[in-house]
Amino acid sequence: MPPTPYVKRPIIKDDAVFSFNFVPPELPHREKQLSQLHSLFGQVVRSGIPQTAFISGPVGTGKTALAKRFCAEIEEQGRLCNRNIVAELVNCRNRDTPPEILHRIITARFQEHLKERGFSVAQLLGILRGKLVKDRCHLLVVLDEANALIKRSGPDLVYNLSRFDEDAGGAQGLVSLVLVSQLNVWEFLDLATASTFRRSNTVALGPYSRDELFDILAMRARLGLHAGTWSGEVLELAAQLAASEGGDARRAIETLHAAARRAQDEGLDSILPGFIEGAAAAQSGGLPLERLDGLETTSQLVLLAVARAGRRKAFVTTGEAEKAYHVVCEERGERPVAHTQFWKHLQLLEGHGIIDKAVEKEGRSGTTTRISPHDISAEGLERMVLALLERHGGRSRG
Ligand SMILES: Nc1ncnc2c1ncn2[C@@H]1O[C@H](COP(=O)(O)OP(=O)(O)O)[C@@H](O)[C@H]1O
Ligand SMILES: [Mg+2]
Repeated sequence: MPPTPYVKRPIIKDDAVFSFNFVPPELPHREKQLSQLHSLFGQVVRSGIPQTAFISGPVGTGKTALAKRFCAEIEEQGRLCNRNIVAELVNCRNRDTPPEILHRIITARFQEHLKERGFSVAQLLGILRGKLVKDRCHLLVVLDEANALIKRSGPDLVYNLSRFDEDAGGAQGLVSLVLVSQLNVWEFLDLATASTFRRSNTVALGPYSRDELFDILAMRARLGLHAGTWSGEVLELAAQLAASEGGDARRAIETLHAAARRAQDEGLDSILPGFIEGAAAAQSGGLPLERLDGLETTSQLVLLAVARAGRRKAFVTTGEAEKAYHVVCEERGERPVAHTQFWKHLQLLEGHGIIDKAVEKEGRSGTTTRISPHDISAEGLERMVLALLERHGGRSRG
C-alpha cells in the first residue's frame, strides 16, 4: 500500500508510560537485587520472622521502582502462603515526621478515617499494633528517601519500627522495615538503632551502564511510542548521554519523552537523533534551571564546586567542597568568600532544596558534614551550572 503522506501520525501512544509514577511491568537489570531482597525476606514469608534491610544508590538507579515492585511481590507471596502481609511504601520527602508517616500507613491500609492531628506517636503505634494483632498481619514498611525523615525528625521512628515486637506484649513478627536512601542512611543512625540492622542487609544499586539504559529505554519505547517512530540509533544516543551523566534512568526516559514530544509537535513521523541531543542538553534532572538562575554568583560557584568535587561519589565533605570552591574561584578569576560565608551559601542551597546536607558523627566528639546534590547527579548539576554561568556572560578567564 502506498504511504499516505499528508496524514500526520502521532508519535506518542501513551504519555502515562513516561510519567513519574508509572510502574514498569519489568525491571531489566535489577533481577539480582530483586532476588536478593526476596532471599532476605524469605523468613517473613515462611515464618513471619521480621527482617530489616537497606536499599541504597544514586539518583535514578531504580531504588523506588525496585522497592515498589518488591512490595507488590511480597504481598502476593504472602497470599500464596496464607500469610497476611501488607507492604506499604511511604515517601519521606513528602511526609517527614513520625506522626505523618504512621498516619499515612494506618489510613492507607488499615482504617480509612483517622483524625489527622491529636495523636501522639505512641498512640499511633498503639493503634497500628492493635490492627496488626487483630488482623494477624505482618506489616512491611518501606521508608523511601529515609534520609529526609532522619534528618528532619531523627532516628526514633526507625528505632520504634525496627523494635516493634519488643513492645508488643508477646505478639511476635509484626513489622519489617526497609530503608531506601541515596546515601548510606545506616551511618546516620545512632548506635542503638543501627545495631538492629545488619550491614550485610544492604542492597546496593549502581549507576546504569549505556547498554542497561538502552534496554530500559527500549521497553519504554515499545510501551509508550507508536511502532516505527523510533530507531535503535535514537535509543542508543539517549542511553549514551544518560550513561555519561551518572547512569540515571529517569534522565534517559525524560530525554526520550521530550524528543518524542518535539517530533510530534513538529509534525514529523519519527524522532530525529538531533532531538535527543537537544533534549538531553536541556535536561535538568529533577531540578528546574530557573531555580539555579535566581541564585547569586557566589552560590552558583559554591554549587559548581560541590558538583565537581562530587563526580562519581555519593557525597562530599565540607572540606572537599571548600577546596574545590577555591579552585573554581581561581579558574574563574573570582575572589573566594571566607569560610563562614561559604557555609552560609551551603545552607542557602540546602534551603532551596538543591543540595542535601547531613551531619555525621565522627570519632568521639567530632562531626563531619556530608553534602550531595539533591535528586540530580553531580555530573548533571555541573553541566547545568556551567551552562548558566556561560549564559550570563561567562566571567571565566580560563
Ligand atoms: N531497571 C529498570 N527498568 C525499567 N525502568 C526503570 C528501571 N530502573 C529505573 N527505572 C525507571 O527510571 C525512573 C527512575 O527510577 P527510580 O526508581 O525513581 O530511581 P531512584 O528511586 O533510584 O531515584 C523511573 O521512571 C523508573 O520507573
Ligand atoms: Mg526514589
